[in-house]
Amino acid sequence: MHELAVAILAAGQGTRMRSDLNKVLHPVLGKPMILWSVGLAHQLGAGLITLVIGNNAQAVSDKVGPSVEYALQAERLGTGHAVLQAKDSLQGRARTVLVLYGDMPTLRLETLQALVALHTERRPAVTLLSVCSDDSMGFGRVVRDATGRAEAVVEEAVATPEIMALKELNCGVYCFDADWLWQRLPDIPPTMPKGEYYLTDTVALAIADGLSVEVLQIDDVSEVQGINTRVHLAEATRILRTRINERHMLNGVTLVDPDTTYIEPDVEIGQDTVVHPNTALHGATQIGGHASIGPNSVIRDSVIADGCRIEASHLEGALLERNVEVGPFGHLRSGAHLGEGVHMGDYGEVKQAYLGPGTKMGHFSYVGNARVGANVNIGAGVVTCNYDGAARHETIIEDDAFIGSGSMLVAPVHIGQGARVGAGAVVTHDVPDGGLVYGVPARQRPAPGGEQ
Ligand code: UD1
Ligand code: MG
Repeated sequence: MHELAVAILAAGQGTRMRSDLNKVLHPVLGKPMILWSVGLAHQLGAGLITLVIGNNAQAVSDKVGPSVEYALQAERLGTGHAVLQAKDSLQGRARTVLVLYGDMPTLRLETLQALVALHTERRPAVTLLSVCSDDSMGFGRVVRDATGRAEAVVEEAVATPEIMALKELNCGVYCFDADWLWQRLPDIPPTMPKGEYYLTDTVALAIADGLSVEVLQIDDVSEVQGINTRVHLAEATRILRTRINERHMLNGVTLVDPDTTYIEPDVEIGQDTVVHPNTALHGATQIGGHASIGPNSVIRDSVIADGCRIEASHLEGALLERNVEVGPFGHLRSGAHLGEGVHMGDYGEVKQAYLGPGTKMGHFSYVGNARVGANVNIGAGVVTCNYDGAARHETIIEDDAFIGSGSMLVAPVHIGQGARVGAGAVVTHDVPDGGLVYGVPARQRPAPGGEQ
């Protein structure tokens, strides 16, 4: 028997999104909306999570995967009916059932923890979350008796003018005593004219059963606004982005312009790093301390060590060791690994390649499928010609080599330690340690001033 199970309601059509994509799969800061709710349920330590999905929701279960169970609500007959579909999955397996929506990504973990704590301490039949707001947003009203105890939630569709005037709103998030819920939920009658089964009717039902109802009131409406349209989607994104940005600033990261800084939830940034305007940090990106990132940079799934400087560049799947400089206008693609102190100047591209410590690649070069040693100088416009039209081949450049401007290194090719390649060479054969080649095609030459 688990202490806590979570039922996440996500069978709605989401028609107001006007989209071919299921509403709860629309990304919010890079993460499908539904995964925010599922993530909260996991973070709460729920032993069991059941997602209530509708017809044609295969895409949702494909995305969320096997960390949750699924209950199908074939016909959308209201929130009470939706929770009832999770009964087979949850009954007898948890003491408390928390109900959440799949379209409320701005809910805070702390709020849910407080709701569960209140419920666990007082053990009422229902503990609901409420918020006071002048804008009713079409929400149900919390009705209290003369002593101030909650006695019902009334939907706008059936509310009298007096009830419409109430400011305390039902957020749609509840903890239920599981035994009571599964026993009494089937007794909720449909509400006309639509014949929907209102989960909110459980409040009056608990009171009628002589049981208590608790309420946790929150202050921040933005936590529970929910997403129905793309306007709401942008608003929720802004709320979460502001929260994430503030967390980083309070952790000691300078965001020069938070309004143009987009940091996804799983990104980590070390202390005393400065993030300049118009920068987006995506996915599993990790950035060390004392780094300078941006302006005008996009970084995805990359690991960047302390002291790096990235300016006006795009990085994806890259690994940068300490004190690397990239940009302006660098492009690091998957498998790019720059050793300590590498300098990669403007208009360079690196893909599936390692550049050893202290190597310099100053201007508009392409290095792909390569292993480059330490302190190599890669001149302007050097290209590793890694693809012969059928397959990719590797270029190896040993420590201290000097690759002259405009050279083409036709892979597979090996450039020895301390070797030099003259400007404009087309290198088709390996160059020995300390060798000098130039020309088209490049030939081994005696070192200038050396023996003939
Ligand atoms: C519901 C509450 C209302 C509360 C509001 C907060 C009821 C009757 N009313 O309003 O008091 O203020 O939430 O947002 O519960 N869903 C299903 N299957 C259904 C119906 C809904 O899965 O048959 C899901 C939706 O996908 C959505 C959530 O439940 O995620 C809420 O549905 P919605 O229609 O927005 O609830 P309301 O009735 O507007
Ligand atoms: Mg609603």
